[in-house]
Amino acid sequence: IKIFVPGDSSAIAVGAHSVVHAITDEAQRRDANIKIVRNGSRGLLWLETLVEIETPAGRVAYGPVEAADVTGLFEAGWLEGKEHALCQGLTEEIPYLKNQERLTFARVGIIDPLSLYDYQAHGGFQGLEKALSMEPMAIVDTMVDSGLRGRGGAAFPTGIKWKTVLATAADQKYIVCNADEGDSGTFSDRMLMEGDPYALIEGMTIAGLAVQASYGYIYIRSEYPYAIATLEAAIGHARAAGWLGDSIQGSGQAFDLEVRVGAGAYICGEETSLLESLEGKRGLVRAKPPLPAIRGLFGKPTVINNVISFATAPTILARGADFYRNYGVGRSKGTLPFQLAGNLKQGGLVEKAFGVTLRELLYDFGGGSASGRPLRAIQVGGPLGAYLPESQWDVPLDYEAYIAISAMVGHGGLVAFDDTVDMSRMAEYAMEFCAIESCGKCTPCRIGAVRGTEVIEKIRHNDQREQHVHLLRDLCDTMLAGSLCALGGMTPYPVLSALEHFPEDFGLPSTVPA
Ligand code: NAI
Ligand code: SF4
Repeated sequence: IKIFVPGDSSAIAVGAHSVVHAITDEAQRRDANIKIVRNGSRGLLWLETLVEIETPAGRVAYGPVEAADVTGLFEAGWLEGKEHALCQGLTEEIPYLKNQERLTFARVGIIDPLSLYDYQAHGGFQGLEKALSMEPMAIVDTMVDSGLRGRGGAAFPTGIKWKTVLATAADQKYIVCNADEGDSGTFSDRMLMEGDPYALIEGMTIAGLAVQASYGYIYIRSEYPYAIATLEAAIGHARAAGWLGDSIQGSGQAFDLEVRVGAGAYICGEETSLLESLEGKRGLVRAKPPLPAIRGLFGKPTVINNVISFATAPTILARGADFYRNYGVGRSKGTLPFQLAGNLKQGGLVEKAFGVTLRELLYDFGGGSASGRPLRAIQVGGPLGAYLPESQWDVPLDYEAYIAISAMVGHGGLVAFDDTVDMSRMAEYAMEFCAIESCGKCTPCRIGAVRGTEVIEKIRHNDQREQHVHLLRDLCDTMLAGSLCALGGMTPYPVLSALEHFPEDFGLPSTVPA
């Protein structure tokens, strides 16, 4: 009997390894014939450790399982599919999973992440096989037609980026994956790398064929040790099986890649700073232009994309641009893996087509607040994203619709707060975060964030409040317009949204003078 126990960080963090030991010991005692597979997480994080038993009807889920539950589960007859309080029924029928549209995460949680057999049995390498038979321009055109936009947060059309690199002549080009997932409340990159690493390798290889780049780097944060280990093992297996190297599957086309580990600076997730770091220098933001697509790593044309953007390319190549663009709304095509975090009963990963609303994510999936108190503010898009009040929770999650309300979808992370939150403290925190993580290159961010923290503190302590609110707005204007990169340029979003939608937390009347 196959038993699936996730080897994903989220499961390990709540004791998955001890659950595995307990299952192995109990099975030995009972002489039960079992095989444990360490899969990725299904993304139902409140049920971790989520153990699944393979049955003729499908996989049956039990969760959250702790090591102490294991003897009871055996006694109740879980291997024979018998009932138990922790039984969640057939995994695929759990509404949280059933109501998703999993394209990029189709295999995550289902396969053994390092099994090439599993990967291919679930559609793996079909996109790359197709790409190997196509001209570079045709691959790029497929990506453009799919409507895929950069999933790191900036939402620039992926195909157009690839087109720029293809059109730039050079003796060497590079593919760089930005796996420095630093946004608060986000974990989709990590989950993908730990749960389906070949999808990223395949996507980067497709990008290499598309722009004629023969080498790639995955820049990953040091805080992700399991993802690093999984990727390194996967690269070795893929190379041994001829999916990487001098002649991919005997095609005569070359692509290889390696993992590089960052040292934990938020700013190294900014693409030019990341490139500096990859080159062995301090992570300092470069002025653009030139764009990395023209002069990137070691001065060569470089495709730099987020994990999810690359990992989506195989699906687009395998199933066609039309298949992908049929999901979503407006100019936001396809799906986004949303990450539900903060004060929610059911945190986890929900891949849905664009157009879903925050309210649906918060209540239909998230189950409302974990504290049982009313939800009040949701930060969408990481620490640089706006705080959304309830009046905005029905706006469809779509890049343009969010821009229209001065918010951003970003990397799809959302962090929920209940009515005990003090939004003036959150605004202060945004400035503090910027002050700590600033690379120091430009004045509006380096000095502005420090001054911003001080000004908000004064507002909070009712020190010439009205005057300091005006000063804060002025400062935010300067940071928005004068910062060199998104860190200084977007920190005003959480600050101004807090001020706009929750003025009472700053000791101001409900309508603040602009
Ligand atoms: P950007 O808008 O400057 O650029 C987007 C991308 O398009 C870049 O790769 C840029 O080089 C490329 N590009 C622009 N014009 C191009 C052209 N004509 N040809 C080829 N490529 C072109 O945005 P930036 O500064 O790269 O990213 C900011 C975003 O990063 C924010 O919106 C935020 O959501 C996100 N972010 C994500 C984090 C995460 O952990 N995933 C952390 C921090 C920020
Ligand atoms: Fe560096 Fe901040 Fe300027 Fe970005 S905005 S370049 S992080 S100082």
